[in-house]
Amino acid sequence: MNSESLTKYTSSLTSAQLYSLLLLLPVSVFFLRKYAFTSDSNSTSSPSTASSSTGSGNDAEQSGTEETKSIMQPPREDLLPPKDDPYTLEELKAFDGSDPSKPVYVSIKGTVFDVSRKSDVYGRGKAYNIFAGKDGSRGLGMSSLKTEDAVPDWSVLEEKDKKTLHDWYTFFEQRYNIVGRVTDMPPSVASFVVSHANDPVSSNL
Ligand code: HEM
Repeated sequence: MNSESLTKYTSSLTSAQLYSLLLLLPVSVFFLRKYAFTSDSNSTSSPSTASSSTGSGNDAEQSGTEETKSIMQPPREDLLPPKDDPYTLEELKAFDGSDPSKPVYVSIKGTVFDVSRKSDVYGRGKAYNIFAGKDGSRGLGMSSLKTEDAVPDWSVLEEKDKKTLHDWYTFFEQRYNIVGRVTDMPPSVASFVVSHANDPVSSNL
């Protein structure tokens, strides 16, 4: 239909019909988006959308979408048995990616993960270097990349942010080797630090 015949067509419609058409437009767009496109439109700053096949933490949010695509790396099947080496927060700083000969570590709730194979995101100057060589649990929970938020005391988080932090923990636990735990987390969260000495290997995969 060319523009002339379109004008003719629309002018022959009653205003009631025109209004109905206009109202139908957003409704159609809504249904198209809901059912026609399967890609994940949630924020990338939360691990809830990390994978279509992960278990704990994501079930409720994903129950309606069987197979969502994700830009995040999938869980791994080749994780090593967790190590339980003790690290102080001061000692962790050595693993912040500034020395290429050392591994890169990220601690979440006092559990230290080796993220060296993703130095493209955690290495020096990279997007998530803010979390390297430290426990930045509070910032992870808040979905914040600010230096002042990347601190270990996550006790002050709102419930929904604690849930986000928990989801990140699960995300890391399924993708990175655990190399130890932080021995001097702030007292408010120290009791939540888990010893992984006797964990079954990759029990949650
Ligand atoms: C516009 C905002 C953002 C975009 C477009 C974005 C994009 C992405 C992408 C594409 C990945 C996958 C990276 C990869 O596997 O190579 C990713 C992972 C990740 N994002 Fe973001 N992100 C955003 C904001 C944030 C914020 C605010 C945080 C703070 C918590 C965050 C934390 C993370 C973390 C921890 C990962 C996991 C990296 C991994 O270990 O695989 N992101 N993000």
